Amino acid sequence: MKRIAVLTSGGDAPGMNAAVRAVVRSGHYHGLEVFGVYRGYNGLIQGDFKSLTLGSVGDIIHRGGTILHSARCEEFRTEEGRQKAIQQLHKFQIEGLVVIGGDGSFRGAKKLSASGFPAIGIPGTIDNDIPGTDFTIGFDTAVNTVIECIDRIRDTASSHERTYVVEVMGRDAGDIALWAGVAEGAESILIPEAPYELSEIIERLERSRHRDKKHSIIIVAEGVGSGVEIGEQIKQRTGWETRVTVLGHIQRGGSPTAFDRVLASRMGVKAVELLLAGERDKMVAIKDNEVIGIDFDEAFSQKHQPNLALYDLAKILSI
Ligand code: F6P
Repeated sequence: MKRIAVLTSGGDAPGMNAAVRAVVRSGHYHGLEVFGVYRGYNGLIQGDFKSLTLGSVGDIIHRGGTILHSARCEEFRTEEGRQKAIQQLHKFQIEGLVVIGGDGSFRGAKKLSASGFPAIGIPGTIDNDIPGTDFTIGFDTAVNTVIECIDRIRDTASSHERTYVVEVMGRDAGDIALWAGVAEGAESILIPEAPYELSEIIERLERSRHRDKKHSIIIVAEGVGSGVEIGEQIKQRTGWETRVTVLGHIQRGGSPTAFDRVLASRMGVKAVELLLAGERDKMVAIKDNEVIGIDFDEAFSQKHQPNLALYDLAKILSI
């Protein structure tokens, strides 16, 4: 193998640049030429490739977003689109591809390898919703961003003795809400993976008011529904001054944490090793702190579950 390529696809996540750097640097370490593909699968179809030198990935390990840009691509979902992409890869004499992205991006990579082109996935998404891996690149940074924001909200919540509902991202997964909720000592954490009763949330709020607690924080994962509506229901049922903050895309940007930089570096190196070992249909994962390769099929046959032990723990601690 002489030439490989790397792309980022789907929603960006902090640490993607660190992963690109690791693929490029370890590729060069092993004597490979590494091409960057711009704008995800769109760039693959259009042949938007550029050879990446060691220097071209300097000074990016700490930067959020992705220097390769990212996009969601409808054309790549079609057989015709994928064939165009494979032609471009052949034209540039590329023999293996590393795809950094989420669930949808991996389905694209899987189809590519099913058509005979070696593709390895690196999980990069703030949602932490990829089955088969304990963590995805960007999740730790997003949780840290969320708690930084909620620390600020707490100041006002406390000064004005208010109840705050904070809606966080995660698509259909509750991981961001769960980790941020435990880290913040939230009164209640609402995640799609666990049913909730509004009456139980209100009882919990009342108990903490009786303990003379000056503020209350409820974290709602977007997969549960609208934080605004939940806030309105709490206000109507309790009559308390309630405010809602929807954190939105603030959670996707920013400099990656040390955890995400290290994870991205480890995963990038592993992806290149897998390609060199002749693997063609795998994603990189971290399991019990070991970075491994697992078959796409094995990963897709599982369903992602957040660490529900944390959910039980949060209930004990917010008694
Ligand atoms: O997958 C990352 C994510 O930020 C989700 O948490 C969120 O639901 C979605 O992407 C938002 O997508 P967009 O940036 O296209 O609005």
